[in-house]
Amino acid sequence: MKKTGNTILLTGGTSGIGRALAERFHADGNTVIVTGRRQPLLDEMAAQGMIAHALDMTDAAALRDFAARITADHPALNIVLHNAGIMLAEDMTADFLQTAEDTVTTNLLGPIRLTAALLPHLLAQPDATILTVSSGLAFVPLSRTPTYCATKAAIHSWSQSLRHQLRGTSVEVLEIAPPAVQTDLMPGHATNPNAMPLAEFIDETMGILSQDPTPSLVGVKRLDFQRRAEAEGRYDAAFAALNP
Ligand SMILES: NC(=O)c1ccc[n+]([C@@H]2O[C@H](COP(=O)([O-])OP(=O)(O)OC[C@H]3O[C@@H](n4cnc5c(N)ncnc54)[C@H](OP(=O)(O)O)[C@@H]3O)[C@@H](O)[C@H]2O)c1
Repeated sequence: MKKTGNTILLTGGTSGIGRALAERFHADGNTVIVTGRRQPLLDEMAAQGMIAHALDMTDAAALRDFAARITADHPALNIVLHNAGIMLAEDMTADFLQTAEDTVTTNLLGPIRLTAALLPHLLAQPDATILTVSSGLAFVPLSRTPTYCATKAAIHSWSQSLRHQLRGTSVEVLEIAPPAVQTDLMPGHATNPNAMPLAEFIDETMGILSQDPTPSLVGVKRLDFQRRAEAEGRYDAAFAALNP
């Protein structure tokens, strides 16, 4: 992935990891288009010189219309970063179905629908990248958030198939798999001492993204605790550590 001169669409750019990556891409000389639902935060991004659009990732028709509009307005669009996501606790002995469905619609169907709408355009670009965002919880789940972890495991799997199908095209597929990072993804997470400070995570991730070639799984060192748990024969211990 080249460092500068790209036109990047980044979903969920209003806060946390997405916002911090958008600001770094913008500072590096890329045209950055961010989406989200919170208009005051989109206005802040626009005030920084980025292009900001309201877009609800759960709205299939809006995603289709948005993809048509954004590729017409920005024909140089060559990178999409599927960052938008929600993480909600579910008590599976109580009423969890709506949360589970919302999580699948946002975290899994959202990136699939947006990719379907953008792929013809990306394939016509000389140099394009699709970045997905999975999680360390794709490798070892947190049982409090079953559907969240399942969507991230699905994104991990889907990214590999997409990459393989698109081999030999101009579109590379990269997967960013963050460990726990201090953001407002869940209540109290921004001050969780076991989560990585956001600035540290962004610095390390930007360093990996600037490697040539970029590794297909963009994982900071802290990810190894989950990513390598099974291969290193300590899966049960990792599961128990996450789920005391
Ligand atoms: N923080 C972590 O520990 C961690 C670890 C692994 C993976 N991740 C992943 O990293 C990504 C970013 O999360 P974060 O930690 O930065 O949390 P965050 O600050 O809560 O950011 C989530 C972003 O997604 C957007 N979003 C959520 N639902 C949306 C919807 N229906 N339509 C449009 N946008 C929506 C939010 O924007 P609006 O609210 O403005 O719509 C926001 O910009 C997520 O995919 C998350 O699963 C995070």
